[in-house]
Amino acid sequence: MVNIGVIGYGYWGPNLVRNFAEIPNAQVTKVSDFKPELLAKAQARYPSIQVTTDCQDIFKDPKIDAVAIATPVSTHFDLALAALQAGKHVLVEKPMTASSEQAKRLIEEAEKRNLVLMVDHTFVYTGAVRKMHDLIASNQLGDIYYYDSVRVNLGLFQHDVNVIWDLAVHDLSIMNYVLPSQPYAVSATGVSHVPGEPENIAYLTCFFESNLIAHFHVNWLAPVKVRRTLIGGSQRMIVFDDLEPSEKLKIYDKGITVNGSSESVYQMLIGYRTGDMWSPKLDVTEALRTEGLHFIECITQGSRPITDGEAGLQTVKILEAATQSMKQRGRLIELNLTEVAA
Ligand SMILES: NC(=O)c1ccc[n+]([C@@H]2O[C@H](COP(=O)([O-])OP(=O)(O)OC[C@H]3O[C@@H](n4cnc5c(N)ncnc54)[C@H](O)[C@@H]3O)[C@@H](O)[C@H]2O)c1
Repeated sequence: MVNIGVIGYGYWGPNLVRNFAEIPNAQVTKVSDFKPELLAKAQARYPSIQVTTDCQDIFKDPKIDAVAIATPVSTHFDLALAALQAGKHVLVEKPMTASSEQAKRLIEEAEKRNLVLMVDHTFVYTGAVRKMHDLIASNQLGDIYYYDSVRVNLGLFQHDVNVIWDLAVHDLSIMNYVLPSQPYAVSATGVSHVPGEPENIAYLTCFFESNLIAHFHVNWLAPVKVRRTLIGGSQRMIVFDDLEPSEKLKIYDKGITVNGSSESVYQMLIGYRTGDMWSPKLDVTEALRTEGLHFIECITQGSRPITDGEAGLQTVKILEAATQSMKQRGRLIELNLTEVAA
């Protein structure tokens, strides 16, 4: 049995507690939050759980094996480091940390102590994203030409992070998981429409060594909610619409054929190929359950999570570079994603 302490019982923390409570070889034994009224809710729902306003009670508890951290981004580093130094395995919310230096330090600490460090990149554990990964890995799309995503809605405005750190973090973690290669540079533009607040709309482009290009549009000031990703390949193309209740993924057998001589554009003929569209059956298990099971399995078997510290670091590096680029009106910032952290 893996005993878990959860820190942060605001919006997201209860989802972690609920899922861990339903996993057979795991149990949440302690929950910590600064707000007693939230702890009262946790206690009412799970009478056997102990609650505390001081997270040190979790770090100091020798019976606790692992800590899940669902607090604001600015606190992730200190809490995760303290948990690792107390000998606990860690599941930390996305984005992993507020800087790549902090992420590297956590990776180093976890490796030194042989502890599991996992980042909650929830989408990676959805049936739709796993299916996209499998389709691309088995080369069903052919050469990947582009990755294009839109994640917009009205609110929730965050005060401590800009819209890229809040929304694009999801898309970047999906992109890093499903694409076979990593970007070498990023450019981003964005503005704030509320004085003194971080950027609420942003456009981010990732460049790859090949002619693959990835673009992300994120916005807290949109009249409608859109969650749509297009992935175009030379053989097939995917549309992932996360707001679709059942057919979230559609695979199109569409593309172009180029005939004629490349020496003269006038002799080049572009043909359009339109074939079938199909929507694959997806695993509908709640992502956090799949993720929770994976976390427990990594702890009990000493294996490395899919969304390990390195995956968290790569996403933070892109977020950091994109924020730097936004401050310079879209200047291209080179990434160094292949650098080894520890
Ligand atoms: N994976 C996802 O899809 C997803 C979705 C939403 C939020 N999140 C992430 O979850 C984290 C929390 O977001 P939220 O929306 O739940 O925030 P929130 O503000 O609703 O909740 C955070 C809670 O943490 C508590 N807290 C802060 N520091 C603490 C400490 N040292 N000890 C004990 N409690 C402490 C606060 O009192 C608060 O109740 C963020 O990192 C966010 O990015 C992830």
